[in-house]
Formats: sequence, C-alpha cells, structure tokens
Amino acid sequence: MTNSIAAIPLSDADIFSEEVMSDPYPVFRELRDAGPIVYLSRHDAFAVARYQEARHVLGDWKSFSSADIALNKQFNEYVGEGIIRADPPIHDALRGVLSAKLAPRAVRELAPDISRRAEKIVDTVIEQGSFDAVKGFAQRFPVEIVGDLIGLPQHGREHLLGLIDANFNCFGPANDRTFASFPKLQHLAEYVMLNTTRDELAEDSLGRAVYDAVDAGKIPASAAPWLVMTYVTAGMDTTVHALAHTIWLMAEHPDQWDALRADPALIPQAFREVLRFESPVQVFGRTARVDWEVEDFTVPAGSRLAVLFGSGNRDERKWTDADRFDVQRSNIDHLGFGYGLHGCAGQALAALEGEAILRALVARVSRIDAGPPVRHFNNVLRGLESLPTRLTVG
Ligand code: HEM
Repeated sequence: MTNSIAAIPLSDADIFSEEVMSDPYPVFRELRDAGPIVYLSRHDAFAVARYQEARHVLGDWKSFSSADIALNKQFNEYVGEGIIRADPPIHDALRGVLSAKLAPRAVRELAPDISRRAEKIVDTVIEQGSFDAVKGFAQRFPVEIVGDLIGLPQHGREHLLGLIDANFNCFGPANDRTFASFPKLQHLAEYVMLNTTRDELAEDSLGRAVYDAVDAGKIPASAAPWLVMTYVTAGMDTTVHALAHTIWLMAEHPDQWDALRADPALIPQAFREVLRFESPVQVFGRTARVDWEVEDFTVPAGSRLAVLFGSGNRDERKWTDADRFDVQRSNIDHLGFGYGLHGCAGQALAALEGEAILRALVARVSRIDAGPPVRHFNNVLRGLESLPTRLTVG
C-alpha cells in the first residue's frame, strides 16, 4: 500500500544546532527508529538516516541527482558545475581526469614519502610532550600532503583550512552558519583564481594534470581551476577531522589502542572504524528525480533528501553494537567515504595518510592521554576545534 506524503514521519529536530551536533547520535537514532524516511520540518528535507536506505540513494544516481547537493537554494544557484554536484556524463569526464592518479595503485607509490612525513610529525609531537592534536598535528599533515600533491604554491596555504571550512558550511541548510560563510566564498574564489593557474602549480603535479586534460580536449578550460579546487577542498578538512578523531578515540579507548599495538595488521581496519564511528562528512543532499517508494511511503519526485552518512554508520540494523568503537570490527562497507558514483575519489590517499599516522604512533607510543575536546561546528563536517594531548613513549 502506498501512503501520501502526510503519512511520512515528521521530525522538528534541528540536526544542525550546536546542541544536537555536540552529540548527534541520540537524535540520529530517533530518526532511524521513526522510519526509513523522515521529513525534517525545519529544513524542508527528507532525512535518510538508516544505512540501507542511505546506501540505496547514494548508489542510484539516476533516481537521486547530486545537482542540488546543498540543502539551501542560494548555494546551489551560486556554485558552478563542480564534480561533486555533476551528474553523468559531465561527472565522468571530470572524475576521469584525476581518478587514475588517485587510484590505489598510483597512490601506493606515495606511501614511502607519506610514511616518512608521518614519522617526522609524530617525532615532533613526541618531543613536544604535550600538544594540541588539532592545530599542532591533524591540521598540518593533510594540508602539506594534499597541497604538495596538487602542486599548490606555499604562499596562501595558511588560509586554506578556514576557507574550506566555510565552503563546507555552505552545503548546509539556510541557517546562520551558512549565511555567515557566504562572504568567505569570495576569498576562496580569489585564492583559486590566483593560485591554481597552470603557472602557479608545480610541474608533474595533480593540478598540472588537470591542465593537460584541457590541452587534450577532455574538459573545458573554464572547468580547470574549479576541478583543482574540488580536490583541494575535498581532501583537507575531511582528513584533518579524521586524524583528530583518531587521536581522541584511541585516547578514550586504551584497550583498543593496546589491541592495535598488539596486532598492527589491524591498522587499516582501525582507521576505517574511526571513519565509521565519527564520520567526518555527516550529510550531503540529493534530489529525488522520481517518486521513491520506500516501505509504505512515497517520497515525491522533486523532494530534497538529506543523506546522513554519520547516522547510517551507527545504524543498529546494520552494525552489531553500533555505538561500540571496535578496531576489530568488519567495516569495509562503512559509508564514511560515501558510496556509488560520487564515492570519495581520494579515499585511497586518505586511508594512506591515516594508516601512516597510526603506524608511526603504534611504533613508539604506549599511551595517549587527551581531552577535554572542544567541538568544531560545521554544517557538513564533524570535527574538533582543539584537543589537548599527551603521548607516553614506550
Ligand atoms: C578521511 C578523509 C575523507 C573523507 C571522510 C571523505 C569523504 C567523502 C565523501 C563522503 C564523499 C561523497 C560525497 C557525495 O556522496 O556526494 C567524498 C567525495 C569526494 N572526495 Fe573525499 N573524503 C576524504 C578525503 C579525500 C581526499 C584526500 C581527496 C582528494 C585529495 C578527496 C576527494 C574527493 C572528491 C574529488 C570527491 C567527489 C567525488 C565525486 O563527486 O565523484 N576526498 N569524500
């Protein structure tokens, strides 16, 4: 039987309020328990909070378009045809340009260099004794690695994280955080136009490969700076938050740290568990192109969906004891990197970074003490603002 839209469960929760974002998991659970689809009255969007439905939506781009990926109209109208909001065929042309260079095999060549850099940064914080795991650690590593990979000039990099954070806010609903971030988009655009031109980018870099694709007629010249910028924006803050959460979760769960030290082969799984447990990307939008029949409900074509990655990753229908952080869990199919056509293009690199940091820490650190954490609030990203940390060597 098909119900009308009125029968779809309603929630007036503001999942973007600081109150909810401080600990979103009880509200996520309420949304999942309310039904496979729940109308968020404050945001005029249907929450897809369960794992199975989230994966279904992400896996079917024909029925669920990314064109209006932000949860507010203004940003969707403002941003151009970037990869993350493009549907095929434009999407595939843009993604093809860099995907070979970010494929697991290509990224593996970077492993020795990334390991060296990870060991260096771990040596530095061990020497310091106590440090802030966000500003003094997590923020330094991906900016350096992704910046060098893309071939960005050194000057101006220091402004990037703040601008990228604002950019992610703009994917949220029409709230104060979104509107306060709009003015920063102009600065981000200026950064892109000045620093991601062919001449500014280092030779043999990923950024230069984008311009090679222009020369080969694969993508239009106007798309080049924005494609470079997508890789910059997508690859920095996300990884920063993942690394800070890695430190926090390992400090909070010393038994899991001990398990990892006893069996370092668990490292890839452990980093995935961080992404499952505290997903750096919490939400992105989709638009239903067709009526979507889900259980007894019909979501009408044209509806805006809010896919809750962080909730799907805690869905007790999918995960046994979902709220337990467990480095031995089988978690290859977590949604932290998304799924389907738009699934993270940089996931092999992100995993390499996270695993290199864990390997460097496991080799030298017997205990991590951290806290209390100060939460960072962003409409899309889940992360920390600061995390006082102390490492014990042994
Ligand atoms: C732990 C770190 C990271 C996390 C949690 C993460 C998460 C995600 C998620 C959830 C998506 C899917 C968006 C959607 O479905 O609409 C995505 C897409 C994307 N990510 Fe990542 N990401 C990370 C690191 C990176 C890195 C290091 C890069 C590249 C240097 C990167 C490049 C991209 C790109 C280009 C897309 C868009 C793909 C497309 O639309 O086809 N990401 N990421």
